[in-house]
Amino acid sequence: EELKKDIQCFHIKTSDDLETFRIKFLGKKKGIITILFKELKKISIHKKIIYGKIINELKKEVQNKINIFRSKNEIKNDKELKFDPTIPGKSIEIGSRHPLSILKNRIIDISTKIGFTYVDGPEIEDDWHNFTALNIPIFHPSREMQDTFFLCKNPDILLRTHTSSVQIRYMKKHDPPFRVLSIGKVYRNETISSRSNFMFHQAEGFYIDKKVSFSDLKETIYYLITSLFGEAKMRFRPSYFPFTEPSAEVDIYCNNEWIEIMGCGMIDPKVFKNVNIDSEIYSGFAFGLGIERLALIIYQIKDIRIYFDNDVRFLKQFKSEF
Ligand code: PHE
Repeated sequence: EELKKDIQCFHIKTSDDLETFRIKFLGKKKGIITILFKELKKISIHKKIIYGKIINELKKEVQNKINIFRSKNEIKNDKELKFDPTIPGKSIEIGSRHPLSILKNRIIDISTKIGFTYVDGPEIEDDWHNFTALNIPIFHPSREMQDTFFLCKNPDILLRTHTSSVQIRYMKKHDPPFRVLSIGKVYRNETISSRSNFMFHQAEGFYIDKKVSFSDLKETIYYLITSLFGEAKMRFRPSYFPFTEPSAEVDIYCNNEWIEIMGCGMIDPKVFKNVNIDSEIYSGFAFGLGIERLALIIYQIKDIRIYFDNDVRFLKQFKSEF
């Protein structure tokens, strides 16, 4: 009876416990039940029958306990544990690229085909690169249009409000001619809605050489848009940016309405002056566009917030070579 209790009360939590339990009772040399069986040989036949039955029952009790633990924890007998190469493997789900990354890579691919080099710029900027050098002096009204997140004041350090700051960094370091593309996050203190967010991605392209003209700009934009949308109806609308002159906004015709997708223009001579490029010799154009907006049109998405919900049901739908 005591031994039965011992067996029943033995606590098996892990497979190590199980092994200790098995060895304690059924171990080949010192297992309690093994020893009892050995003792059995020494006693009279009459007693053998009685004790043999009892010991057999105890052995069953031990084996039952082992089997129950094994089936609960799916521990197979040694034989079953052997590797079977014919069993199909468990398939691993492969993730997909984020739609914004797909579009970013597509734009890089399209632009590099016509000679643009991809560069990155910092998201944390100073006032000069984000505003002043781009001909947006302090108190300029267009600073208000780009509600800025300041990280510190005096000196002003901020989260860039547009990728045009990359133009300044690049032009300061390199001598023309060059064609450069940059894509990255920009930040504006805007209320979150289906159309706007406080963080979004912009692509910025600029091209500087001798005799770059507005028709080069138009042709480049036309190439970009038709590469992205196929044959699309587009129009240039006169606009204003402090760092380009003349400036335009580009709309495309989509679902029976004109949708604005980018700003562009010929780089203002004042900007050239700020980065020591001679505007008598060189001219250039720049364009900037919002990736989220563009993706809304391309993928027919209704709400900009879905990009960052991290819902796999949304993200899974995008398969791409990029
Ligand atoms: N930086 C402008 C914006 O954020 C876009 C732009 C880029 C316009 C380059 C003209 C030239 O709205």
